[in-house]
Order: sequence, then structure tokens, then C-alpha cells
Amino acid sequence: MGGIIIKTPEQIEGIRKSCKLAAQTLDFAAQFVQAGVSTEYINTQIDKYIVEHSAVPATKGYNGYPKASCISINEVVCHGIPSEQVILKEGDIINIDVTTILDGYYGDTSRMFWVGEISPEAKNLIEVTHHCLYLGIQQVKPDNFFGNIGFVINRYATAKGLSVVYEFCGHGVGLKFHEEPQVDHTSRRNKGPKMKPGMIFTIEPMINQGRAATRVDRADGWTARTIDNKLSAQFEHTVLVTAGGFEVLTDIHNEYAVT
Ligand code: MF3
Ligand code: CO
Ligand code: CO
Repeated sequence: MGGIIIKTPEQIEGIRKSCKLAAQTLDFAAQFVQAGVSTEYINTQIDKYIVEHSAVPATKGYNGYPKASCISINEVVCHGIPSEQVILKEGDIINIDVTTILDGYYGDTSRMFWVGEISPEAKNLIEVTHHCLYLGIQQVKPDNFFGNIGFVINRYATAKGLSVVYEFCGHGVGLKFHEEPQVDHTSRRNKGPKMKPGMIFTIEPMINQGRAATRVDRADGWTARTIDNKLSAQFEHTVLVTAGGFEVLTDIHNEYAVT
């Protein structure tokens, strides 16, 4: 137990810096997303970048996870392990997820990239997933229920004929990698705990083209795929509850005005 941590102003400042670095790492990684490049190569660049910025990649060694990033392609929902064997090709959609530890503080973010021309279906999936994250973030304000985040995400995605992954969730973050609460992306209206200023957590919807269910690769114990091998997309931000609403700590492109 212990409940949901309310971060102090000093902790918020530290987490803000780590989140900024995590987002900058994704900007840096973008240049390597090209046909013929292995996900291991991209991961190596990410690893170096984080270390050169005096931080530590949180995933490396986390519960035995071996790499500095998760790189999840096409039907991989999340936790794709970078590999020399996975080579990007035209038409692929790719999620890169990085979590930094800077001065002991965690920042967690992921976004979608793609190679060359992608199908209209893939493009739609990415756009809907991006909007799902947007809708979830709009729910962040003091005294709102955590359940309303998943409620609006699930309502929108299903209205678009897509499905929401329920087996992986967002999470409190900042002093540790995964803190309370669990942030579901399929939850019910006005359910769960209430948001309070100083809480920090991720919203990270994974949206599938086909069925919502996933299966973890038996051989590596990590790679989660859609059971029907249809496409999956994800975006993730780390969000702070403020007195007026939210601040998206990993939003270095000012997509979200501070409320
Ligand atoms: N960054 C992921 C998240 O958003 C977690 C990755 S855990 C790992 O929660 F062990 F797979 F790296
Ligand atoms: Co996360
Ligand atoms: Co993440």
C-alpha cells in the first residue's frame, strides 16, 4: 500500500528534467528510423544518448529486461526487445518507449514512428491512438476520477472500430518506475481513486486494429503481440496533476498547453 504519492515541488522539478530528457531522447532517435536499420542499432544510439546526458536508462536490468528502450513494431503491442534480427522496412509502424533516470527521478514516454509510406489503416490507427492519449490527458484535473481516463479512451477507440489493450496499463511514476496507481485504458466512468495536485503518472494507451488480447512471447518472456497479428499502436506521456488541471511533463513540443 502506501497509496498514491503526492510529489513535493523539489521532486516535481527533478521529474520534469528527467521527462524532458526522455522526450529529447525520442527526438534524437527519430533520425535512425529508416529502412534497413536494426532496432538494436537504434537502441544503442538511445543508450549512449541517455548516458551522455548523465542519466540511466530505467529499462536496462529492470526485472531482467536487457535493453535501454522498448522498440515495438507492427503487431508488437509493447516491450519489443531491440535486436540485430529486427530490421526496419518500408511500411512498418514503430513505437519507441524510453524511460530515463536522472538524479534519481524517472521520466517515461513513447511515440509512434514509421518507415516511408504506410497503409491508410496504419495511419488511421496511429491517429486514433494519438487522439486517445489526448482525450485521456484532457481528463487530468484535481478531483476527477482516474477511471474517467480509460473511459474516454475506450469510448473513442471502440467508436472508431478499434480495440483497447487491457493487459498493460499506465502507472504512477517519478520516484520509482512503476508506482501506484495503475492507470487503466478501459476503465469505467467515475471509478477508481481521485486525482490530486502533485500526482504524477503515465497515460499510455495501446490500441489494436483487431482483437484487444495480447500474448507474451514464450521464448523471450517480454515481447507482447496481438493474438491475431494485426497492428497495434501506442503513445505515452508522463503527466502532472496541477491545481488548474495538468502539465504534460514529456511534452517538449508544446502540444499541450498547461492548464
Ligand atoms: N516503459 C514501459 C512503460 O511505459 C515499461 C517498460 S518495462 C520493460 O511502462 F522492462 F519492458 F522495459
Ligand atoms: Co509507462
Ligand atoms: Co514507457
